[in-house]
Amino acid sequence: MTNKLKPNWTGDELLSRFVNLLIQTKPIYQVMKRQARQVMIKTAEKNGVPWRQTYQELEESGAKGLLEDMTNPNVVYPDYYKMPFHAYEEGNLCWQAAFEASSATKAMGLRVWPKENITWETAQSRLRGGFHQVLDQYSPETVKDVLDIGCSVGISTLALHHYYCQRQAMKIRTVGLDLSPYMLTVAKTTDVQGEISEWIHALGEDTGMPDNSFDVVTLQFVIHELPRQATRQIFQEARRVLRSGGCLAIVDNNPRSPVIQNLPPALFTLMKSTEPWSDDYYTFDVEAAMQSVGFQYKTTVASDPRHRAIVGIKPS
Ligand SMILES: C[S@@+](CC[C@H](N)C(=O)[O-])C[C@H]1O[C@@H](n2cnc3c(N)ncnc32)[C@H](O)[C@@H]1O
Repeated sequence: MTNKLKPNWTGDELLSRFVNLLIQTKPIYQVMKRQARQVMIKTAEKNGVPWRQTYQELEESGAKGLLEDMTNPNVVYPDYYKMPFHAYEEGNLCWQAAFEASSATKAMGLRVWPKENITWETAQSRLRGGFHQVLDQYSPETVKDVLDIGCSVGISTLALHHYYCQRQAMKIRTVGLDLSPYMLTVAKTTDVQGEISEWIHALGEDTGMPDNSFDVVTLQFVIHELPRQATRQIFQEARRVLRSGGCLAIVDNNPRSPVIQNLPPALFTLMKSTEPWSDDYYTFDVEAAMQSVGFQYKTTVASDPRHRAIVGIKPS
């Protein structure tokens, strides 16, 4: 990590304001959006991620027929969630986002080690492994119930489930929760062996889960997509559903990572143009927010060259 707290292309810096102006100029934004998409697909396919094939397979899988079953009709989508994300006009609330999410996740893993000639499988295993190592240190000795908030298409949830089943040498109960029923439909379809106990459509801020019912709650690559107020509310909810001694663990972009701080202008502009809450995330004191809702803050550590893990414990 560097001494600089965050990249200059975020927050209220001159560079950041200039980039924001560029993004707010509609015709430029449209071009950038198309470019971001092209770069992502090209890089992924070049590195063995079958982007278009996966899309086609999901399209033909009959997954769409599950949408109604996966949808909780009582969910009200907050405004911050209904904005365009990741170059999708409807953000996470569409089939295109859901059918491309696993490929985008695999491509994201590969971007962490751009100079190494590794497969997406190795990259994912390193990415998740770095986070699990931190969990290993701070999770309670016995973990029976785990909640993955913002589970998307379930890659983080399944990896977490496998990690704890192995660590505990027994089957544990893992729940994946997301605000997009499209993502959850793909998660359910992908979880062919039914390893995950429940895929729940709800707000992380209001999970509907009983008090004191989980040992671990994770937020993996979720909070950079949220305004800080929503993150605070999710922390509060995590505290409510965790048992005493249980841990809230986050993994996300590391503002102090030299790689992130020194991203080339084309890349950080593309990144900002597809992540509407970027500035809010990079200038947010996550650790203080965790403590303000009653967590005992434990650690912030680089889990890989681009990401940090942050852990808090619910006191007894
Ligand atoms: C980048 S994805 C997470 C990826 C996944 N956890 C992983 O590590 O592969 C972020 C997810 O958070 C979900 N999300 C965003 N805001 C949420 C909220 N308030 N409550 C629940 N899920 C939310 C989005 O729908 C999206 O699927």
